[in-house]
Amino acid sequence: MMNELFNDVVSAYINGEFVAPEDAHISAFDRGLIFGDGIYEVVPVYGGQAFRWDEHLTRLNNNLDIVGIRQPHTWQAWAKIVNGLLSRATEEDHYLYIQVTRGVAPRNHVFPDSAEPTVFAYVQKMAPVAESTLAQGVTVVTIPDFRWRRCDIKTTSLIANVWLRQQAKEQGAAEAVLIRDGVVTEGAATNVFAVMDGTVRTAPQGPNLLPGITRDLVVELMDRHGVSYEERSFTEQQMLDAEEVWITSSTNEVMPVSRINDSIVSEGRPGPAFQRLYDLFQQYKAQYRTAAKQNVG
Ligand code: PDD
Repeated sequence: MMNELFNDVVSAYINGEFVAPEDAHISAFDRGLIFGDGIYEVVPVYGGQAFRWDEHLTRLNNNLDIVGIRQPHTWQAWAKIVNGLLSRATEEDHYLYIQVTRGVAPRNHVFPDSAEPTVFAYVQKMAPVAESTLAQGVTVVTIPDFRWRRCDIKTTSLIANVWLRQQAKEQGAAEAVLIRDGVVTEGAATNVFAVMDGTVRTAPQGPNLLPGITRDLVVELMDRHGVSYEERSFTEQQMLDAEEVWITSSTNEVMPVSRINDSIVSEGRPGPAFQRLYDLFQQYKAQYRTAAKQNVG
């Protein structure tokens, strides 16, 4: 019964040891549990290799520095851990979850003088996005963004995000698109793109949204392939009037939106700009898989 919970987890690691998922335990006094005092990453794994690893590790280290948690490992040490975890990944798509907390200490809001960061990581199978979702697009709802002012930090303190996503689910939607002062910031766990007058727009990086690795890749692909785009915020109304809308994340890749609240977007099906970016993303991913295979072979 217990093990079924972990059916899709292929490997796990805690503080220096590779462990069976059901044996992945930490102290109840860990500040990650008590305060949500930690930083995390979700990294897609394609062809047995961590996709955009350098970007993910850079973001993790930057975030640790910002909140003053000691970086637990060098790049080389991380590579060893990740290779160990990935040695059990098959050709199917997986994701790698990494969490670094401030460690175990008596409860006190002030940072402990000496605590070893807790490092927890695992690799899990990732179901591909359903064909029907790609063909039809998803429904999203707009909800006021009541989160804090440092949404650029990928912290494990996610109660606002899980609550917002739950509210979306209860309204029959796949995602909550968050609105701050009339402006779209991001989704509960995705970044948001909209097409206006033939130009793709996404909010610029800043304190109100996570600098998504998938977002950055989509921007890079638009740049490389001459797609007209702007990193410029847009209002809720502009999004409702947009020609197309899509969301991105490491687990959803590039996902079309066909309905926002009660409004139909792009005649209720994925539009041409989405299709172009989706294809470019899939091409990039396929090339990465092939390159990864050659590295291994
Ligand atoms: N979430 N914005 C928020 C608030 C997120 O939590 C995420 C990712 C993104 C997209 O970032 P990226 O492209 O780097 O995955 C944007 C992950 C997938 C999660 O919490 O499961």
